Amino acid sequence: MAVGIFDSGLGGLTVLDAVTRRLPEVPFVYFGDNAHAPYGVRTADDIFNLTCAATERLWDEGCDLVILACNTASAAALKRMQETWVPPEKRVLGVFVPLIEALTERQWGDNSPPREVAVKHVALFATPATVASRAFQRELAFRAIGVDVEAQPCGGVVDAIEQGDEILAEALVRSHVEALKRRMPNPEAAILGCTHYPLMETVFQEALGAGVKVYSQANLVAESLADYLTRRPQFLGPGTQSKFLTTGDPTYVSNKATQFLRRKITFEAA
Ligand code: DGL
Repeated sequence: MAVGIFDSGLGGLTVLDAVTRRLPEVPFVYFGDNAHAPYGVRTADDIFNLTCAATERLWDEGCDLVILACNTASAAALKRMQETWVPPEKRVLGVFVPLIEALTERQWGDNSPPREVAVKHVALFATPATVASRAFQRELAFRAIGVDVEAQPCGGVVDAIEQGDEILAEALVRSHVEALKRRMPNPEAAILGCTHYPLMETVFQEALGAGVKVYSQANLVAESLADYLTRRPQFLGPGTQSKFLTTGDPTYVSNKATQFLRRKITFEAA
Protein backbone atom coordinates (compact mmCIF):
# COMPACT_ATOMS: atom_id res chain seq x y z
CA MET A 1 0.00 0.00 0.00
CA ALA A 2 2.63 2.54 -0.99
CA VAL A 3 2.28 6.09 -2.36
CA GLY A 4 4.88 7.82 -4.55
CA ILE A 5 6.18 11.32 -3.89
CA PHE A 6 8.04 13.01 -6.74
CA ASP A 7 10.13 16.16 -6.96
CA SER A 8 12.85 17.46 -9.23
CA GLY A 9 15.17 17.30 -6.23
CA LEU A 10 15.17 17.94 -2.50
CA GLY A 11 12.16 20.24 -2.19
CA GLY A 12 9.55 17.46 -2.14
CA LEU A 13 11.11 16.27 1.13
CA THR A 14 9.16 19.09 2.82
CA VAL A 15 5.99 17.38 1.60
CA LEU A 16 7.30 13.89 2.36
CA ASP A 17 7.96 14.93 5.94
CA ALA A 18 4.40 16.19 6.39
CA VAL A 19 2.68 13.22 4.74
CA THR A 20 4.77 10.77 6.78
CA ARG A 21 3.72 12.50 9.99
CA ARG A 22 0.06 12.61 8.92
CA LEU A 23 -0.08 9.02 7.60
CA PRO A 24 2.54 7.07 9.59
CA GLU A 25 1.15 3.69 8.53
CA VAL A 26 1.58 4.36 4.79
CA PRO A 27 4.92 3.53 3.13
CA PHE A 28 6.12 6.35 0.85
CA VAL A 29 8.58 6.01 -2.01
CA TYR A 30 10.35 9.29 -2.72
CA PHE A 31 11.87 10.03 -6.13
CA GLY A 32 14.20 13.04 -6.47
CA ASP A 33 15.30 13.77 -10.04
CA ASN A 34 18.38 15.57 -8.70
CA ALA A 35 20.42 14.89 -11.85
CA HIS A 36 17.99 17.05 -13.85
CA ALA A 37 17.16 19.77 -11.27
CA PRO A 38 16.31 22.57 -11.53
CA TYR A 39 13.18 21.98 -13.64
CA GLY A 40 12.16 25.64 -13.32
CA VAL A 41 14.29 26.75 -16.26
CA ARG A 42 13.30 23.87 -18.59
CA THR A 43 10.73 23.81 -21.39
CA ALA A 44 7.26 22.36 -20.79
CA ASP A 45 8.06 19.37 -23.08
CA ASP A 46 11.21 18.63 -21.17
CA ILE A 47 9.40 18.83 -17.81
CA PHE A 48 6.63 16.56 -19.17
CA ASN A 49 9.09 13.90 -20.37
CA LEU A 50 11.18 13.91 -17.18
CA THR A 51 8.10 13.82 -14.94
CA CYS A 52 6.57 10.91 -16.89
CA ALA A 53 9.82 8.92 -16.63
CA ALA A 54 9.97 9.48 -12.86
CA THR A 55 6.29 8.59 -12.44
CA GLU A 56 6.78 5.31 -14.32
CA ARG A 57 9.65 4.45 -12.00
CA LEU A 58 7.34 5.03 -9.01
CA TRP A 59 4.66 2.84 -10.57
CA ASP A 60 7.33 0.10 -10.84
CA GLU A 61 7.77 0.45 -7.05
CA GLY A 62 4.09 -0.38 -6.53
CA CYS A 63 2.84 3.19 -6.14
CA ASP A 64 -0.43 3.45 -8.09
CA LEU A 65 -0.87 6.99 -6.77
CA VAL A 66 1.92 9.50 -7.34
CA ILE A 67 1.95 13.00 -5.84
CA LEU A 68 3.88 15.55 -7.87
CA ALA A 69 5.40 17.37 -4.88
CA CYS A 70 6.79 19.84 -7.38
CA ASN A 71 4.87 22.94 -8.42
CA THR A 72 6.82 23.23 -11.63
CA ALA A 73 5.79 19.73 -12.77
CA SER A 74 2.26 20.31 -11.43
CA ALA A 75 2.02 23.55 -13.41
CA ALA A 76 3.80 22.57 -16.61
CA ALA A 77 3.06 18.83 -17.02
CA LEU A 78 0.24 17.51 -14.83
CA LYS A 79 -2.76 18.49 -16.97
CA ARG A 80 -1.16 16.98 -20.09
CA MET A 81 -0.24 13.81 -18.16
CA GLN A 82 -3.78 13.39 -16.84
CA GLU A 83 -5.37 14.07 -20.22
CA THR A 84 -3.07 12.03 -22.45
CA TRP A 85 -0.92 9.64 -20.50
CA VAL A 86 -2.10 8.33 -17.08
CA PRO A 87 -3.96 4.97 -17.42
CA PRO A 88 -7.33 4.65 -15.64
CA GLU A 89 -6.02 2.38 -12.87
CA LYS A 90 -3.37 4.93 -11.79
CA ARG A 91 -3.55 8.45 -10.38
CA VAL A 92 -1.17 11.39 -10.53
CA LEU A 93 -2.05 14.42 -8.37
CA GLY A 94 -0.41 17.83 -7.95
CA VAL A 95 0.20 20.20 -5.07
CA PHE A 96 -1.44 23.39 -6.33
CA VAL A 97 -5.08 22.90 -5.54
CA PRO A 98 -4.85 22.26 -1.76
CA LEU A 99 -2.97 25.53 -1.41
CA ILE A 100 -5.48 27.51 -3.42
CA GLU A 101 -8.37 25.91 -1.52
CA ALA A 102 -6.74 27.08 1.74
CA LEU A 103 -6.21 30.59 0.41
CA THR A 104 -9.81 30.80 -0.81
CA GLU A 105 -11.25 29.14 2.31
CA ARG A 106 -12.79 26.23 0.41
CA GLN A 107 -13.39 22.62 1.34
CA TRP A 108 -11.95 19.91 -0.89
CA GLY A 109 -13.90 19.54 -4.13
CA ASP A 110 -16.08 22.62 -3.57
CA ASN A 111 -16.69 23.49 -7.21
CA SER A 112 -19.17 26.31 -6.64
CA PRO A 113 -18.67 29.48 -8.73
CA PRO A 114 -15.85 31.89 -7.87
CA ARG A 115 -16.62 34.28 -5.04
CA GLU A 116 -15.01 37.16 -3.13
CA VAL A 117 -12.49 36.09 -0.51
CA ALA A 118 -10.87 37.91 2.40
CA VAL A 119 -7.38 38.15 0.89
CA LYS A 120 -7.07 40.70 -1.92
CA HIS A 121 -3.33 41.15 -2.52
CA VAL A 122 -1.31 37.97 -2.91
CA ALA A 123 2.39 37.59 -3.61
CA LEU A 124 3.34 34.41 -5.44
CA PHE A 125 6.93 33.16 -5.28
CA ALA A 126 7.68 30.32 -7.68
CA THR A 127 10.11 29.05 -10.31
CA PRO A 128 10.28 30.80 -13.70
CA ALA A 129 8.45 27.86 -15.38
CA THR A 130 5.63 27.89 -12.81
CA VAL A 131 5.18 31.65 -13.14
CA ALA A 132 5.26 31.43 -16.95
CA SER A 133 2.56 28.72 -16.96
CA ARG A 134 0.11 31.03 -15.11
CA ALA A 135 -1.39 27.82 -13.69
CA PHE A 136 -1.73 29.36 -10.24
CA GLN A 137 -3.70 32.34 -11.52
CA ARG A 138 -5.91 30.01 -13.59
CA GLU A 139 -6.75 27.75 -10.63
CA LEU A 140 -7.35 30.80 -8.45
CA ALA A 141 -9.71 32.38 -11.00
CA PHE A 142 -11.91 29.24 -10.85
CA ARG A 143 -12.44 29.87 -7.14
CA ALA A 144 -12.06 33.56 -6.30
CA ILE A 145 -12.81 36.97 -7.75
CA GLY A 146 -11.06 40.25 -7.16
CA VAL A 147 -7.72 38.83 -6.00
CA ASP A 148 -4.69 40.69 -7.26
CA VAL A 149 -1.74 38.29 -7.72
CA GLU A 150 1.80 39.56 -8.22
CA ALA A 151 4.12 36.75 -9.24
CA GLN A 152 7.87 36.75 -8.71
CA PRO A 153 9.95 34.21 -10.67
CA CYS A 154 12.66 33.29 -8.18
CA GLY A 155 15.49 32.37 -10.55
CA GLY A 156 18.48 30.66 -8.90
CA VAL A 157 16.93 29.72 -5.55
CA VAL A 158 16.32 26.02 -6.31
CA ASP A 159 19.79 25.72 -7.83
CA ALA A 160 21.41 27.26 -4.74
CA ILE A 161 19.46 24.94 -2.40
CA GLU A 162 20.36 21.87 -4.49
CA GLN A 163 24.03 22.94 -4.44
CA GLY A 164 23.87 23.40 -0.68
CA ASP A 165 24.77 27.11 -0.95
CA GLU A 166 22.50 28.48 1.76
CA ILE A 167 24.13 31.90 1.84
CA LEU A 168 23.39 32.40 -1.84
CA ALA A 169 19.86 30.98 -1.46
CA GLU A 170 19.18 33.42 1.38
CA ALA A 171 20.55 36.42 -0.56
CA LEU A 172 18.45 35.47 -3.59
CA VAL A 173 15.29 35.10 -1.51
CA ARG A 174 15.81 38.58 -0.02
CA SER A 175 16.37 40.15 -3.43
CA HIS A 176 13.31 38.40 -4.93
CA VAL A 177 11.15 39.62 -2.02
CA GLU A 178 12.49 43.16 -2.53
CA ALA A 179 11.75 42.98 -6.26
CA LEU A 180 8.20 41.86 -5.57
CA LYS A 181 7.62 44.54 -2.94
CA ARG A 182 8.57 47.23 -5.45
CA ARG A 183 5.56 46.13 -7.51
CA MET A 184 3.25 45.19 -4.60
CA PRO A 185 4.36 47.07 -1.47
CA ASN A 186 1.77 45.58 0.90
CA PRO A 187 0.81 41.99 0.13
CA GLU A 188 -1.56 40.45 2.70
CA ALA A 189 -0.50 36.90 1.92
CA ALA A 190 2.42 35.19 0.27
CA ILE A 191 2.38 31.82 -1.42
CA LEU A 192 5.55 29.74 -1.42
CA GLY A 193 4.74 28.09 -4.75
CA CYS A 194 7.77 25.81 -4.89
CA THR A 195 8.32 22.90 -2.54
CA HIS A 196 11.97 23.90 -2.07
CA TYR A 197 11.01 27.26 -0.56
CA PRO A 198 9.76 26.04 2.86
CA LEU A 199 13.43 25.22 3.49
CA MET A 200 13.87 29.04 3.38
CA GLU A 201 10.55 29.91 5.02
CA THR A 202 12.03 31.94 7.89
CA VAL A 203 13.97 34.07 5.39
CA PHE A 204 10.82 34.71 3.32
CA GLN A 205 8.84 35.59 6.47
CA GLU A 206 11.54 37.91 7.76
CA ALA A 207 11.94 39.71 4.43
CA LEU A 208 8.17 40.03 3.98
CA GLY A 209 7.49 41.20 7.53
CA ALA A 210 5.48 39.63 10.32
CA GLY A 211 2.16 41.01 9.04
CA VAL A 212 2.21 38.89 5.87
CA LYS A 213 0.65 35.43 6.15
CA VAL A 214 2.94 32.93 4.44
CA TYR A 215 1.24 29.85 2.96
CA SER A 216 3.37 26.80 2.30
CA GLN A 217 2.17 23.51 1.01
CA ALA A 218 3.42 20.60 3.07
CA ASN A 219 0.70 20.34 5.72
CA LEU A 220 -2.07 21.30 3.33
CA VAL A 221 -1.03 18.55 0.90
CA ALA A 222 -0.79 16.02 3.75
CA GLU A 223 -4.38 16.78 4.86
CA SER A 224 -5.66 16.59 1.34
CA LEU A 225 -3.87 13.27 0.69
CA ALA A 226 -5.30 11.77 3.88
CA ASP A 227 -8.76 12.85 2.77
CA TYR A 228 -8.22 11.46 -0.75
CA LEU A 229 -7.09 8.06 0.54
CA THR A 230 -10.12 7.81 2.81
CA ARG A 231 -12.35 8.30 -0.19
CA ARG A 232 -10.24 6.30 -2.67
CA PRO A 233 -8.39 3.58 -0.73
CA GLN A 234 -8.10 1.53 -3.93
CA PHE A 235 -5.28 3.84 -5.05
CA LEU A 236 -2.97 2.68 -2.28
CA GLY A 237 -0.64 0.65 -4.49
CA PRO A 238 0.80 -2.82 -3.79
CA GLY A 239 4.25 -1.51 -2.69
CA THR A 240 5.23 -2.32 0.89
CA GLN A 241 8.51 -0.51 1.53
CA SER A 242 9.40 3.12 2.12
CA LYS A 243 12.46 4.17 0.15
CA PHE A 244 14.29 7.13 -1.32
CA LEU A 245 15.40 7.09 -4.95
CA THR A 246 17.53 9.65 -6.76
CA THR A 247 18.93 10.11 -10.24
CA GLY A 248 21.75 12.12 -8.63
CA ASP A 249 24.66 11.01 -6.45
CA PRO A 250 23.05 9.00 -3.61
CA THR A 251 25.73 9.91 -1.04
CA TYR A 252 25.53 13.64 -1.70
CA VAL A 253 21.72 13.64 -1.81
CA SER A 254 21.49 11.53 1.38
CA ASN A 255 23.71 13.99 3.24
CA LYS A 256 21.69 16.99 2.12
CA ALA A 257 18.38 15.26 2.91
CA THR A 258 19.61 14.23 6.36
CA GLN A 259 20.63 17.83 7.02
CA PHE A 260 17.24 19.22 5.86
CA LEU A 261 15.00 16.73 7.65
CA ARG A 262 17.26 16.36 10.71
CA ARG A 263 16.94 12.56 10.61
CA LYS A 264 18.99 9.95 8.79
CA ILE A 265 17.82 9.58 5.19
CA THR A 266 19.48 7.11 2.82
CA PHE A 267 18.91 7.47 -0.90
CA GLU A 268 19.59 4.75 -3.44
CA ALA A 269 20.20 5.11 -7.17
CA ALA A 270 16.92 5.23 -9.11
N1 DGL B 1 10.41 21.86 -5.96
C1 DGL B 1 10.16 22.25 -7.32
C2 DGL B 1 8.87 23.08 -7.35
O1 DGL B 1 8.05 22.93 -6.44
C3 DGL B 1 11.38 22.93 -7.88
C4 DGL B 1 11.42 22.94 -9.34
C5 DGL B 1 12.78 23.10 -9.95
O2 DGL B 1 13.50 22.09 -9.98
O3 DGL B 1 13.09 24.19 -10.43
O4 DGL B 1 8.62 23.84 -8.25
